Amino acid sequence: MLPASDLLSAFLAQSDFYPGLPQQRRLYEAAKTAIHQHQLGAGNKLPSSRDLARDLCVARNTVVAAFEQLAAEGYVTSTLGSGTYVADLADLKPLDDKAAAYVPLNASALAPLSRRGAHITAFAAGPRFEIQPFAPGDADFSSFPFKLWQRLQNRVWREVRPDLLDYGQSGGYLPLRQAIAEYLRISRSVKVAVENIVITSGTQQSLDLCAQLLADVGDTAWVEDPCYWGARRVFEACDLTLHPITVDADGMALEAADLATDPRLIYVTPSHQYPTGAVMSLVRRRELLDVAVRKNAWILEDDYDSEFRYTGRPLASLQGLDTDDRVVYMGTFSKVLYPGIKVGYMVVPPALADSFKIALYDLQRPGQLMVQAALADFISQGHFVTHIRKIRQIYGSRRELLRKTLVSQFGAQLSQRVTISSEESGLHLVVELPDYVDDVALEKLAAESGIAVKALSTYYLAPPVRRGLLVGYAYVTPDKIVYYGKLLAAVIQSGVH
Ligand SMILES: Cc1ncc(COP(=O)(O)O)c(C=O)c1O
Repeated sequence: MLPASDLLSAFLAQSDFYPGLPQQRRLYEAAKTAIHQHQLGAGNKLPSSRDLARDLCVARNTVVAAFEQLAAEGYVTSTLGSGTYVADLADLKPLDDKAAAYVPLNASALAPLSRRGAHITAFAAGPRFEIQPFAPGDADFSSFPFKLWQRLQNRVWREVRPDLLDYGQSGGYLPLRQAIAEYLRISRSVKVAVENIVITSGTQQSLDLCAQLLADVGDTAWVEDPCYWGARRVFEACDLTLHPITVDADGMALEAADLATDPRLIYVTPSHQYPTGAVMSLVRRRELLDVAVRKNAWILEDDYDSEFRYTGRPLASLQGLDTDDRVVYMGTFSKVLYPGIKVGYMVVPPALADSFKIALYDLQRPGQLMVQAALADFISQGHFVTHIRKIRQIYGSRRELLRKTLVSQFGAQLSQRVTISSEESGLHLVVELPDYVDDVALEKLAAESGIAVKALSTYYLAPPVRRGLLVGYAYVTPDKIVYYGKLLAAVIQSGVH
């Protein structure tokens, strides 16, 4: 058996043994692990704190504190004058899985999961690439009015309102719900009463609440194909059965086979289909509302980026056409302000409002009322609309610059095979590629040039898939759009020829 000081020293020498923790804690863990692994047996005498401190090159107090902790937990016994001994503990087992809690997470260290948990983590979205050019979906947070926001937040804190430090039970801060109601009525033609607004921590939470409150395990959810991965993850996590529905230029296109199924939920992005950008036609909107009534299903309208329409007025919502209270309308401040604000909202049919508020409180403990108060002021004082106007102008010109850069590089032959999405909205455009092109391979090739585009085919649930690349432009500065746009065009060229 190794002498105790050598043994403990060997543990401490491993850089991945409880990294980043104080020496005293590492020493305690080393001794505990050695005792559990029977490397330090019952009755073994530990070196004196002075000797051990010298051998391990640590302060004596460090050793004393570690020994005291071990004694308090019964691993060692200390008697003044006679030393410290390993206690006689029956049936000690190695600590492997407990120790894993302190070791950096990696796949093998993950605790055994439920079937659902394993499914969720197996399909994790992967890392975000927000600082790389052309990653789809991200906005330009550098144009956020930091100073103004700071002033509004400071004012709320100066008011000293202890009530705003609570969870909040009524579906969110009332003045924020009033400000949102006013905005939605004017800008999005949403039919809204303040009581029917529920503030959430974003669309992801809104979807989760809808899935939990409106559907049971095994129920069917119709989703657009291709589909927003965030919605898909939530529905899968709630054990719903996903039924993909083809999307064409007019949005979700129901066919007879779809109508033979009975959905409980219907998830759509009608103003700007994610990711293709299609706008759902009026005929399709009315058809969908009819179907929802016939099937007794709920439509979940995700209106995630409708503020970004660069020509003409923003499109009216689907909810505004609903005369039967079948639509739950969802919005978010993730794109217009910044994702970390974690504020979104739902407008739910009147019959659901109280249930949603109760569930939000019981399941999620909402809170964040101080942020909600600052946001209420931000909207009601007109800064929100001003900010939207400003970034809309910036993004619109970046979109145009990206399109022009790509077109000028493509040349006549490539332009015939490749289509750049033409709708004037959103934070990304889609470069549609011929079916024979491997868009996933192009995504990888682009990544080698520092470009984080996403392959369109990866958003599909079922074949046939369309090939293309999602190219985000909102946060890419004009000089970078030109530079990386040329590189991207070369990547596309290499894949299409
Ligand atoms: C289609 C769609 N809906 C919603 C969101 C935003 O969700 P959240 O409010 O959870 O940030 C995104 C973000 O990328 C999105 O693409």
